[in-house]
Amino acid sequence: MSSKLIAPSVLAADFANLQRDVEMINKSEADWFHIDIMDGVFVPNISFGMPVLRDIAKHASKTIDVHLMIVDPDRYIKTFADLGSNILTVHYEACTHLHRTLQAIKAEGMKAGVALNPHTNISLLEDVITEIDLVCIMSVNPGFGGQSFIENTYNKVVQLKELITRKKATTLIEIDGGVTSKNAKQLADAGADVLVAGSFVFKSEDQIQTIKELKAVANS
Ligand code: DX5
Ligand code: ZN
Repeated sequence: MSSKLIAPSVLAADFANLQRDVEMINKSEADWFHIDIMDGVFVPNISFGMPVLRDIAKHASKTIDVHLMIVDPDRYIKTFADLGSNILTVHYEACTHLHRTLQAIKAEGMKAGVALNPHTNISLLEDVITEIDLVCIMSVNPGFGGQSFIENTYNKVVQLKELITRKKATTLIEIDGGVTSKNAKQLADAGADVLVAGSFVFKSEDQIQTIKELKAVANS
């Protein structure tokens, strides 16, 4: 079985010590940097934007996984490629022409991801799944870190895994929101490939050790 990946969410970092926190992720067993971009329109919160991502990318030594929680993401695809994004995830609910958006992301040399809000059914991806490199299943309503995990996520992971297998797609399954060492194993067993963790990592005493433990649980 391929190993499960851990993507700490920088949203929960200390922005006054951002370089320190980026170096922590570099040194840890984490696989990716998860970067949450919020516009205050698609979600009721504003996180950070291009200059911050540019500076994170300057110091980060791992894959940069950008989660766009913005309306009309097509406007910024090239910008996010130029800033150093390796994976660009857009929300299903924010894309009128999702197929075209995915092609545009890949044309810029990035992997293309689609995020689904908790109310959005997996079956809506049926006709486009073979074009998607990563599906991010939101296990909280997007907009804030530190929320509690929605239990129905396990069912969605199983449904998505079934769809990917049936369509012979190579799509990775990412889970975002409320991930801890308590739900990591059940998520991994259901078929999740990548676990995003914000508060669980950054609110812990020893962040490097927390990442190590989370990865060990996910791969147990
Ligand atoms: C929520 C963001 C998540 C968030 C996860 O809108 O997309 O990536 O940072 O944070 P935790 O792990 O604290 O739920
Ligand atoms: Zn996210």
